[in-house]
Amino acid sequence: MHTAAQERIIRPARNIMGSLRLPGDKSISHRYAMLSAFAEGVSRFTNFSTGADCASTLACMEALGAKVHKLEDGTIEVTGVGGRVTESNAPLECGNSGSTMRMISGLLAAQQGRFTLIGDDSLSRRPMERIGKPLTEMGARLTLTEGHAPIVIDGTKLHSIDFTPPVPSAQVKTCVLLAGLQTQGTTTVREAVRTRDHSELALRAFGAKIARAQASVSIEGPQTLRGIDAVVPGDLSSAAFFMCAAALFPNSGLLLDSLGLNPTRAALLDVLTALGVHIAVLNLEEVHAELVGTVQVSAPAGGMGSTEISGSLAAQLIDELPVLAAIGPYTSGGIRIRDAKELRVKESDRIALVAKNLRAMGAEVEEFEDGLDVPGGQTLHGATIDSGGDHRIAMAFSVAALRAEGETIIQGAESAAISFPEFFNLLDLVAER
Ligand code: S3P
Repeated sequence: MHTAAQERIIRPARNIMGSLRLPGDKSISHRYAMLSAFAEGVSRFTNFSTGADCASTLACMEALGAKVHKLEDGTIEVTGVGGRVTESNAPLECGNSGSTMRMISGLLAAQQGRFTLIGDDSLSRRPMERIGKPLTEMGARLTLTEGHAPIVIDGTKLHSIDFTPPVPSAQVKTCVLLAGLQTQGTTTVREAVRTRDHSELALRAFGAKIARAQASVSIEGPQTLRGIDAVVPGDLSSAAFFMCAAALFPNSGLLLDSLGLNPTRAALLDVLTALGVHIAVLNLEEVHAELVGTVQVSAPAGGMGSTEISGSLAAQLIDELPVLAAIGPYTSGGIRIRDAKELRVKESDRIALVAKNLRAMGAEVEEFEDGLDVPGGQTLHGATIDSGGDHRIAMAFSVAALRAEGETIIQGAESAAISFPEFFNLLDLVAER
């Protein structure tokens, strides 16, 4: 299942220049894959995520009876099961993907049959109680292994709930909504911090009726879904690495085409703007209610300033925090991150690994239970980076390496393929050396 750990050498760059179109958004691709496989009829997706995580979702849905074909032009064609999955004798392999495991659990809890969900070492360490609790409250028969995967689900009829996740999480929200979709009555999820709303938008695109209020979303079940044709917007969380790379060089110029700009995902643009980076958004349009546009990035002549990311902003930027912390030393005033304890239970303990790797590059950094203080005005040197097999750590430090003195070795570089297999090739394309 795992390829051997690979090292990648990153040499410093002089500038970042060019234009890129990024593979499809990982979050949206997961949802389109699950909903199309569950729906009636055929769906077709262009620019579907190329990441291993979304391949895990497609493989699980295939094992549950959906038909998946990759057409010659790269289009993914999915024929859905029409609301009723088939029992899978083999365990459903979710790989490294928390989204796959947590969201599919909601779908399966209301189906007939026994399902076992497993994952790799990293996924098997991640907390699953957060979905076990609401699903059990709905009447699901589900067994965790000491709060973790493997998860065994004996599908059964559920009842609707009104649920407030204790930690803001789009995965948990989606899990409950997918169970609610199949359950008599109204299921409501309330959130104090608005997490990414791709599930709500995708459910509507597939024909479901859902009601949204300021701080809650409700679905009345049971409902059926119908397949769609869609173009998946470029992945903003993947683009984040290139935007932060461009932010490091005063004469940079980067154009990112057809990028997903859903407001619940786009806080990075505000943070970069607060740091002094010039961001322009062009050609905005809506595709299945998802905002898509072109983004131009250029760094300020005088370098970046400083910023603090805390409160709800930390939750909204959770996937972008590693790369923001990694460019912190190159700002003038530093980057302060708080209220981001969730980073410790991602694919790795991202707070600990960011601190460890920044120190390896000679940076001063202070670690907190829920964040980091990264002082600005620092000079970094090349080092050996321990990615911990975490794609976002591997890519974040490839960006930090662009302005370090000397070469940097990224250990476990193959992990980038979890979300973004093209990352190193595209970096070579825009990094001027
Ligand atoms: C995701 C939600 C976030 C995010 C993850 C993708 C999603 O996780 O970190 O990369 O697609 O819903 P949580 O919902 O656990 O915060």
